[in-house]
Amino acid sequence: MTVNVLFVAAESEPFVKIGGLGDVAGALPAAIHHIAEQHPDSHPIDIRVALPYHQAIKKKGFQVEFLGEFPVAKKEETIPCQVYRYADGEYPIYFLDGAPIAAEAQVYSLITSEDGEKYVFFSLAALGLAEFLNWRLDVLHANDWHTAIAIYALKECAKHSAPLARTKTLHNLHNLPFMGYGIQQSLTDYGLPPTQNTLLPDWARHAPLPLGLLYADKIVAVSPNYAKEILTPEFGCGLEDFLQTRKTALTGIINGLDTTLWDPENDPHVQRNFSDRSLSLRLENKRALQSTFNLLEDDQVPLLTLISRMDPQKGIDIALKGLVYCQDLPWQAIFLGTGTPFVENLARELETRFPERVRAVIDYDNKLAHQLYAGADIFLMPSRYEPCGLSQMIAMLYGCVPIARKTGGLADTILPVSRQVDGGTGFLFTKPYPSAFADAVKRAIRYFNKPELWGNIQRNGMKMDFSWENSAHKYIDIYLELSNQRNVAA
Ligand code: GLC
Repeated sequence: MTVNVLFVAAESEPFVKIGGLGDVAGALPAAIHHIAEQHPDSHPIDIRVALPYHQAIKKKGFQVEFLGEFPVAKKEETIPCQVYRYADGEYPIYFLDGAPIAAEAQVYSLITSEDGEKYVFFSLAALGLAEFLNWRLDVLHANDWHTAIAIYALKECAKHSAPLARTKTLHNLHNLPFMGYGIQQSLTDYGLPPTQNTLLPDWARHAPLPLGLLYADKIVAVSPNYAKEILTPEFGCGLEDFLQTRKTALTGIINGLDTTLWDPENDPHVQRNFSDRSLSLRLENKRALQSTFNLLEDDQVPLLTLISRMDPQKGIDIALKGLVYCQDLPWQAIFLGTGTPFVENLARELETRFPERVRAVIDYDNKLAHQLYAGADIFLMPSRYEPCGLSQMIAMLYGCVPIARKTGGLADTILPVSRQVDGGTGFLFTKPYPSAFADAVKRAIRYFNKPELWGNIQRNGMKMDFSWENSAHKYIDIYLELSNQRNVAA
C-alpha cells in the first residue's frame, strides 16, 4: 500500500530560502519522489509538500492553480485557508494562504512572538489539507519549531478526527536552540494548551519545538553526531534530560547536497572549471581572486576563505581572533557574509589590521561564493555548534580543504587528515578557542607546503559522495517503518 507523506516546512527552494532548512526542504522531497518513481514497488511513497504562501513567494510569480478553501478553527471563529497548487511541480506542492499568513511581510520576524499566529495557523491548516484533499495522511514530516506545532496539534485534533488518529509523525531537527518560545498566546488562541506531560521541563511545556519533540513518533536530527550531542548539557539547551527519555525515537541522518548546483566541472560562475582529474586548472581561479581583490599574486601563499552567516553559532570570532595567532605565517584571507554587527565589525577590524592580506566582503554574493570555493585553498568553519552544515561539503567537492570545529555534522562529514593523509579530507579542532583554531591552521599550512600531499587531500574531498540519494533512502526506511507501526496499530 502506498505511504502518503506530507512534508511541511516554513521555507523551501526554489520558492523562498532564508537558511539551510530551505535547501533541505527543496531537495529532500524531490530526492524521495525520484526514488519512489523509479522503484514504485519497493518504495511506494506519495510525498507532497505544504508551504505557507509567503508574500515573498507570491511576488516571484510562480504558476499556481487555486484548489479551494476550508476553515481553520480559532477560538469562537474560523479563519479560511486558501489552497493553491504549484503548477510546475513534479510532485504536489501546495501553498497555503489565509489572513495570518498574508499579514506578515517576512518569512521570519526577529521577534518570535510576531511569527506565532502565522505558523500556528499554517500548522493547523497543513493538517486540514489532508482532509480537504480527501487524502489519507500516513506520515506527517515536520521541520523545526514552525511546523513542530503540527505534531502537537495532530495529537489534539486526533481526539475528534478519526483519520488523523492513526497518522504517524516525524520531527526533523535542524537547529535545537530555536524553539519558538514566546508564541504561547497564539497556541492558546487556536486551542492548543500547555501540555500536562511532566517529561518536559516546566518552561518548555508550551513551546513548539519541545512539544514536537515530545509527541513525535520519530525524531531525526540532521546528522548522527548532532543526535548524540543534544543529549549532553553542552548542546542540549536544557532539554538534554528530557531528550534522554526519547533516545529510542531519536536518530540522525546527514543532509545531502544538490550536486547539480555545486559541481566544479560545470559551474557557470567560476573562471575555470576543473575536476579531481584536472586539479592544476584550479589555480587559475585562485589567481583570479588574488588579482580581483588586489592581493599579492603568489601561488605559494595559502588563500583562506570563510563564507558564512556572521552570527555567534558560526564561531567566526574564534577564527578571526585565531588568525592573529598565526600572523607569522604567510596566508591571505577573504571573508564573505553578513550578520550581527559585532561579528561583521570584527571582520572589518582584521582587514584594517592586515590590509595587505585580509579582505572582508560584508555582503550576500552567491557568485562570489562559488568563486571562493573554487579558488581558495582552505575553508574555515569554526562553528560553535553545527547540526549538519552544507558549506564544508561544498568546499570539499571544490577542492577547498576545510578547517572546522569537530562538532555536529562537521565531525560526520570531514575525515581528519592523519600523518599519512590516507583518506583525510580536512582538519578538525576540538575546543572552541582561538588557540585551538590557530593550531589547526598551522597544521594545515604545513601540509599545504607539501604540494603532493595537499593534492591528495583535495582529491579525497572531491571524491566524496554528498548527494541526497543515500540520505533520502534512510528517510524512506523511516516512513515505511512508521507506516508499518500505523497498520499494526489499526
Ligand atoms: C540549520 C543548521 C545547519 C543545517 C541546516 C539544514 O541551518 O544550523 O547546520 O545544515 O539547518 O539542516
